[in-house]
Amino acid sequence: MPFRPSFPPYSRRDFLRQLLGAGAVTLAGFDSLSAQPPGLSTPAFRFAFLTDIHLMKGGALRSAEGMAACLKAVEALQPRPEFILVGGDLVHLSRDMAIHEAEQNLKTFLQIWNDHTDLPAHWVFGNHDLAGTSNPAASTSDRHYGKKLFQSYLKLPHLFYSFDHKGWHFVVLDDIAPQPDRSYIGQFFDDELGFLRADLDAHKAKPTIICCHIPAASNLSLGLILAHAATGHQPPKSRSLVCVNGQKLVDDFPGHNVRAVLSGHLHHFEQLEISGVPIINSGAVCGSYWRGPMYGCPEGFGVVDLGTDGSVKFDYRDFGWKAA
Ligand SMILES: [Fe+2]
Repeated sequence: MPFRPSFPPYSRRDFLRQLLGAGAVTLAGFDSLSAQPPGLSTPAFRFAFLTDIHLMKGGALRSAEGMAACLKAVEALQPRPEFILVGGDLVHLSRDMAIHEAEQNLKTFLQIWNDHTDLPAHWVFGNHDLAGTSNPAASTSDRHYGKKLFQSYLKLPHLFYSFDHKGWHFVVLDDIAPQPDRSYIGQFFDDELGFLRADLDAHKAKPTIICCHIPAASNLSLGLILAHAATGHQPPKSRSLVCVNGQKLVDDFPGHNVRAVLSGHLHHFEQLEISGVPIINSGAVCGSYWRGPMYGCPEGFGVVDLGTDGSVKFDYRDFGWKAA
C-alpha cells in the first residue's frame, strides 16, 4: 500500500497567515526609510488614504452605514487630515450593472460621501469603477460606459494626473486595463508612463507619493494564488491581482524623489520595499466586502503623516466596524 502522508486540516486563511507571517496583519505604523533618524521629522501635514469602499447595491450588508462610520472616523482624527486620497472601488461591481444602475449607485455613494465629509478628495480609478463593461447588454457607445461614468461624476478629464500640497508632490495613475473578454488586468499605459517620467523629472525637488489601485508589486498576490490552488479551486489570475508591468514604475525610482507608492485592490495591508521605496498596499474600508475582516485584516484606512524631511509614516487603522 503506498505511503500517504497525512496533513492536518489546513484552511486558506491558515495558509495565508503562515505565508504572510504572524505579524503581517498589524495596525502598527510603517515608517519609510528616510535619510533622517527617526524622531527628527517635523510633521508637514496629514492625509487619509481610503481605498476599496465597495458600497453595495441598495446599501446591502450595512455598507452605507459602514462607509459613513469610516468617514466619521476620518473627520474625528486629530490632527485633521488635509485631504482624502481615495484609492478606487467606490461602488461594488459597477461593471456588472446596467449603466443607469451604476450611475444611480455612484450618485448614492457621492451623496453619502458629501453628507459625511467636506475634506477635499483626490480620486484613483479602481476596477469596480468600470461601468457596464462586464454586462453584455450595456452599450459601449453610452456616454457613461466604462471609465466615463467615474470621469464624468468626479470631474476628471484624465485618470492619471498630479498635484502638489505643501511641498509634496502626488501622482495618481490609472492601471485598470479592460480586456476584450470583458475582464480586466492591471497594467500601466504607455501614455501615462510617458507622463509619469516627465512629471517625476519635473518634480525632483519635491518628495513624491505615487498612487494606483492595483499594486505594482505584491507578495500577497502570490499567496492568494497558491492558497486557492491548495484548495483545488480555480485560482485568481495574477494579471488581475498585480500589475503586469509594475517593473516600469520601479524603473522610474532611481534618480527621482519617490517616497512611497500607495495602492489597494487586495483588501489586505501589506508593506514591501523596492529600491528603498516603500510599496504600501492598504487594507480596505470594506474589509472582505462588508462581511468581516479580509484574512484577518480589519475594515480600515490609512493615516499618512508626511514629514518636512520627506519621511512617510503610514498607520493602518480600523474604525471599529463589526460586520452584520
Ligand atoms: Fe476592491
